[in-house]
Amino acid sequence: MMVVSTMTSPDTVLDFAHAVALGLSDRPRWLPSRFLYDERGSELFEQICELPEYYLTRAEAAILRRVAPVLRRKTGPVTLVELGSGSSVKTDLLLAAYAEEGASVRYVPVDVSASILRTAAERIEETFPSVNVSGLHGEFEQALPLLEDYGPVMLLFLGSSIGNFNQAESLAFWRRVAAALPRGGWVLLGVDLAKPAAVLEAAYNDAAGVTAAFTRNLFARMNRELGAGLDLAAIGHEARWNPEWQRIEIGARFHRRQTLHVEPLGRRFTIEPGELVMTEISRKYSLPNLTEYLRCFGLATAHTATDDQRRFAVLLLQKGE
Ligand code: AVI
Repeated sequence: MMVVSTMTSPDTVLDFAHAVALGLSDRPRWLPSRFLYDERGSELFEQICELPEYYLTRAEAAILRRVAPVLRRKTGPVTLVELGSGSSVKTDLLLAAYAEEGASVRYVPVDVSASILRTAAERIEETFPSVNVSGLHGEFEQALPLLEDYGPVMLLFLGSSIGNFNQAESLAFWRRVAAALPRGGWVLLGVDLAKPAAVLEAAYNDAAGVTAAFTRNLFARMNRELGAGLDLAAIGHEARWNPEWQRIEIGARFHRRQTLHVEPLGRRFTIEPGELVMTEISRKYSLPNLTEYLRCFGLATAHTATDDQRRFAVLLLQKGE
């Protein structure tokens, strides 16, 4: 029987208003990327994953398909806890190995969207009758303290979502994971690898304009929820590779002067022509650096797998005994 427990109330309009006011008061201006994922934004992200230029999802799926039985042998039976599970489609590739021959498995997807959790849970329980799904509706941070209740556990953090954290957020995340994970506990991490700028920039500037629509939707959301009053046609999407910081930087370029209203707070911001508002970063990794960094948190790399073009990597980490 599928269970979905709610740990949090979703961000309110007032949370959104405060976050927008804070980021727009800073220089350079920025907006927190988590607000990209409202209902429309989540739909657009699902479309991004299918784009010919956006190789990440396919590359990771190819790796998981290949290594799932190896992972199952290395970890033994574990509860799979997935952070930011979304539609959980890639998780099927792991569940196929962990639930082989009807082995009973507990799967705990964690997501901020209750409806996505419910749909994913129903689909999984139908496909894998021996999998027991207990969805957790809320933020990652709220799920981590529950890990010790699950016995042997493997935390899944796939899709290179770690790349959307800046250095401070990444540090805070790994500290929390390392503190919450029981000794001997596992993490399965999917990361996008650094590669030539042209390939990366194409992945975030697709020809069909879906990524541009994803960025612009954040401003459409401000119009809808905050009464921002923006002319979206005069806001362009930009995604550039920053080689020094090893990250794609995504933002919205204002083509003309606009006043952005944050009605719930009674505030307004004037954005000048040519100004860029940063909406997201997407960091890209080198395997030797990443394994060294993770070792600082007591997480040893037990297995590494890449796709045949070495575009993407999946790492199995274990917290020191
Ligand atoms: C969710 N995350 C890993 C995506 C990425 O590739 O950084 C978000 C994204 N933004 C634009 N395209 C994809």
